[in-house]
Amino acid sequence: MSNNQKVILIGDGAVGSAYAFALVNQGIGHELGILDVDKNRTEGDALDLRHALPFLSPKKVYSAEYSDCADADIICITAGTAQKPGETRLDLVTRNLKILKSIIDSVMATGFDGIFLLAANPVDILTYATYKWSGFPAERVIGSGTSLDTARLRQTLAEKINIEAGSVHGYVLGEHGDTGFIAWSNIRIGNLPIEKWIPDFTDQAKEDFRVAVRDAAYSIIEKKGSTSYGVASALARITRAIFRNENAVLPVSAYMDGSHYGIEDVYLGTPAVIGREGINTIAEVPLNEKEKAELTHSANTLKKIIADSFT
Ligand code: LAC
Repeated sequence: MSNNQKVILIGDGAVGSAYAFALVNQGIGHELGILDVDKNRTEGDALDLRHALPFLSPKKVYSAEYSDCADADIICITAGTAQKPGETRLDLVTRNLKILKSIIDSVMATGFDGIFLLAANPVDILTYATYKWSGFPAERVIGSGTSLDTARLRQTLAEKINIEAGSVHGYVLGEHGDTGFIAWSNIRIGNLPIEKWIPDFTDQAKEDFRVAVRDAAYSIIEKKGSTSYGVASALARITRAIFRNENAVLPVSAYMDGSHYGIEDVYLGTPAVIGREGINTIAEVPLNEKEKAELTHSANTLKKIIADSFT
């Protein structure tokens, strides 16, 4: 990790632009290069962001080229086609693997040796592909994973019981997508089980929350065309934990090597300790039998897509 805390963002669409603004607005990192096939857009976004700096804190912000990747600390990849109404994230896999391969080849040609942070969907599969194509150690290839799903769960629960979301603890695990699930046995609110806050918390209520989290993105896409602020804030949080060497426990898409959850050779959403070197350790969540089955189903769903589409 260099001292200049340099990020190169590849993909300046709704998610990338929101992530760039989050880094500038929160003062995360010292240098931000923005790279996209649309050079006009990156030059316009960089200029617009620089005009925010006098209100915030100094940072180098510019329209980047692949050559700027060589000494970057983090490369965040949001580039790819986004879900259209009615599309699942997995429906994007063929198109986005093709886009990603070109990006990874161009980045690796620069000698980049930092941390990859992926958000393009299907993020678990694209993060796996980046791990395989880059040859980097798994700890330096991270996906946004279920960080956003977990935030959606926490916020939805918080609104239900009128408690601040930071007091809601627990995780969505597995795919950042339709097979992701809520590990209800671990949910605590102010260190109390959920039943203390919602006495008649039935299985139907749990299912309603699962559907609300699962369908949040579809609802936003129907209303405004794409999601951006939630995932951008998740990416900024992960970036902050890396740059400030926080050793923060955050839900991300991490490589399963067989030593956790009994699952191997796939990327899945799980809490992990994030610091300067990327993922320090996986913070394995204790699961009941039902939850173990849900995680295995999620893993197998992703592994089948990988087997069918990844070479
Ligand atoms: C979402 C996109 C980032 O869930 O997959 O908003």
